[in-house]
Amino acid sequence: MSLVGGSAQEKNPGRIRERGAYVDTMSDQETSAGETTWTSEAAEKWLSWVDELEKAAAPVRDLLLERANLQPGERVLDVGCGSGPSTAAAAEAVRPHGVVTGIDIAAPMIAAARQRVRGPGIEWIVGDAESYPLPQAHYDVIISQFGVMFFADNAGAFANLARACRAGGRLIGIVWPTRDKISMFIYLFSSVRQTLDRLGIPYQEPPLDFGPFSLGDARYVEWLLSDNGWTGVRVEPVERPMTMVGTHTSSDQQSTAEWLRMGPANALLDGQPEVVYAEAAKDWLQAVKERVTDQGLRFNVLLHVITAKRP
Ligand SMILES: C[S@@+](CC[C@H](N)C(=O)[O-])C[C@H]1O[C@@H](n2cnc3c(N)ncnc32)[C@H](O)[C@@H]1O
Repeated sequence: MSLVGGSAQEKNPGRIRERGAYVDTMSDQETSAGETTWTSEAAEKWLSWVDELEKAAAPVRDLLLERANLQPGERVLDVGCGSGPSTAAAAEAVRPHGVVTGIDIAAPMIAAARQRVRGPGIEWIVGDAESYPLPQAHYDVIISQFGVMFFADNAGAFANLARACRAGGRLIGIVWPTRDKISMFIYLFSSVRQTLDRLGIPYQEPPLDFGPFSLGDARYVEWLLSDNGWTGVRVEPVERPMTMVGTHTSSDQQSTAEWLRMGPANALLDGQPEVVYAEAAKDWLQAVKERVTDQGLRFNVLLHVITAKRP
């Protein structure tokens, strides 16, 4: 399991249409954002690694909380809250009178969050943040840790969140840049490419902003949010250390093949027979061995911190 979840490759007509208004000079590749792959099944897979994933993303959560600068008494919405690590940290920051609401589209995620995060001032919603009828002009702050990159209709989603935020309120979200900027995915993709080259199998490079990397182009994000209810939009690149979760804890080729199928490198492997996944898993385990330390498979990764205000 990677820290992105899902290997979304489906075309997303909503976003392509929406991008018609945006002049994209980032790449000449076809834009292909993924529809959310956050089904219950994907959530269950995520939850099978949840302790490691939360630990690996702790530096991301700390960065989010630092930039959000939450104050006691504030009302906060945590979008795509998953098992609730950032919801818990936010609740701590707004005590004693603040309230944090975690919203997630996957019911198993909210069930896990309810189990893992307890205490006063916390609410949960199972719902699609893109269209859920959130209370209007209600929240002081909207936060998200890797939870806003999976919308089918980005414009509709950020407009829905803007309506839920009070005038003068703020949005702070952490997303991935495009996949070519993130050391740990560069390493992973390179290993899979080497396998395919070794086996003489042709493949197509997925777009730089496919699936979980769909908000990776800073200028697109600035345009998207400014056009959908937000002002003062900034995208700040920040590096943080992260540990890649999954295969270094297991040398089992079969579970590694399954791990590859669940993560973003599946964009290169999709449609290949099992034997190719097995070969890719073998090569990846070797690549892990070459890099892993006592602390696991560590990378300095580039993140994008999105900040914006509700006028
Ligand atoms: C990569 S996980 C991040 C989870 C959590 N924020 C964390 O960092 O541990 C993405 C989360 O976004 C949720 N999600 C995806 N699309 C969503 C949507 N349209 N509305 C609400 N949640 C969504 C998924 O179910 C998943 O829990």
